[in-house]
Amino acid sequence: GDSRLWGGRFAGGPSPELTELSRSTHFDWRLAPYDLQGSRAHAQVLHTAGLLTDDDLVAMLAGIDALDADVASGAFTAQPGDEDVHSALERGLMERLGPDLGGRLRAGRSRNDQVATLFTMYLREHAARIGELLRALVGALADQAERHLGAPMPGRTHLQHAQPVLLSHHLLAHAWPLVRDLDRLADWDARVAGGSPYGSGALAGSSLGLDPEKVAASLGFTGSTPNSIDGTASRDVVAELAFVLAQVGVDVSRLAEEIILWNTKEFDFVTLDDGYSTGSSIMPQKKNPDIAELARGKAGRLIGNLSGLLATLKALPLAYNRDLQEDKEPVFDSVDTLEVLLPAFTGMVRTLTFHTERMAALAPQGFALATDVAEWLVRQGVPFRVAHEVSGACVQVCEQRGIELWDLSDDDFAAISPHLTPDVRSVLSVEGSIASRDGRGGTAQVRVAEQLAEVRARAAS
Ligand code: ARG
Repeated sequence: GDSRLWGGRFAGGPSPELTELSRSTHFDWRLAPYDLQGSRAHAQVLHTAGLLTDDDLVAMLAGIDALDADVASGAFTAQPGDEDVHSALERGLMERLGPDLGGRLRAGRSRNDQVATLFTMYLREHAARIGELLRALVGALADQAERHLGAPMPGRTHLQHAQPVLLSHHLLAHAWPLVRDLDRLADWDARVAGGSPYGSGALAGSSLGLDPEKVAASLGFTGSTPNSIDGTASRDVVAELAFVLAQVGVDVSRLAEEIILWNTKEFDFVTLDDGYSTGSSIMPQKKNPDIAELARGKAGRLIGNLSGLLATLKALPLAYNRDLQEDKEPVFDSVDTLEVLLPAFTGMVRTLTFHTERMAALAPQGFALATDVAEWLVRQGVPFRVAHEVSGACVQVCEQRGIELWDLSDDDFAAISPHLTPDVRSVLSVEGSIASRDGRGGTAQVRVAEQLAEVRARAAS
């Protein structure tokens, strides 16, 4: 049958091409349970406003429950003539309640305010789930940090050896952006919760004395929108979530890239667990970091979803335009992408084996202690400009001879500068260098242990 919600002024049905273009049930069906929840709340306010009798309300709620069960079991599905999930469910209700009662529910609401509300209800639930997955990833990073609390590694800038740091410090540096993503999800949720669009109607609000605040409360919102045009036409909160999800993808991709590098023969910093790596169909020796590569690749997809949505919204006049139907697929895709990616990524991180001896051996190489020499000189009262130059001269001598800083003899040091007494050797060790960086946020183990506790506290739900 023709389940169009707008047949009244039309002589014939829509062309098959229009029907084909217009249909969204293949992607908006996942909003069905939220649509029905909205219908229950709407039936209640219609009843409160005197537009449904007590008996009508009881029958209506029973019909909605029956339809809900049939949607859940798969007994009720979208038909080719259904334009979207909302029209399909209205058809389902008419079939169950008859057109007289079934046809009363649409009073005072529009698919425009429905979809704006249901979409954010769906997103709030999935944002919470993604938050849990993020907590698990932060937990895996924190566990690895705790397991390797005293282990040093080469710290890099420009991908060059810079200064030794603790592996745990480096791992926690990947955890903090994810902690901030958790904060972003919480901020976002509070903002979305404040403005339920239900009751905005098509754009101008309702004339039937319905209470949007009551609907909002029963749908888990803390308030309803103060502006019905904004309620139906804005999607900035949707784009904001698409941004947060893209940022999560970008944050994860930076760790992914490092794991890919660490897993190379040249770095040889990690071994991936067999369950979280793949082989090659032709090269028997291969063990590939596919999870990390997929994470890196999917970050591009998440950014694309955000860009696509922003492009849809740009310069869109108020109020609702059908363009807005294009808002859902990109954000659904971002949600689906992270819900599959994060558990795999967390498993990979949790099972990663670090080659701590090799990392420790490489930590001081590449003159990574040159800054420590300069800062030791400063502590002897030498101006930093001079100290920097003296330490640089040490590096130059070492480079010429193909040796490291600690290979210089007392005479070598004295020849470079009279300030360089044999005591300078006290800082020519990775342990000494790391322990000396004990200001807040520094890589000294006491500080890293503090921030580990801070990360755990911030990521606790
Ligand atoms: N399916 C539409 C959407 O996802 C909602 C329907 C509004 N349609 C309309 N003609 N006003 O945005």
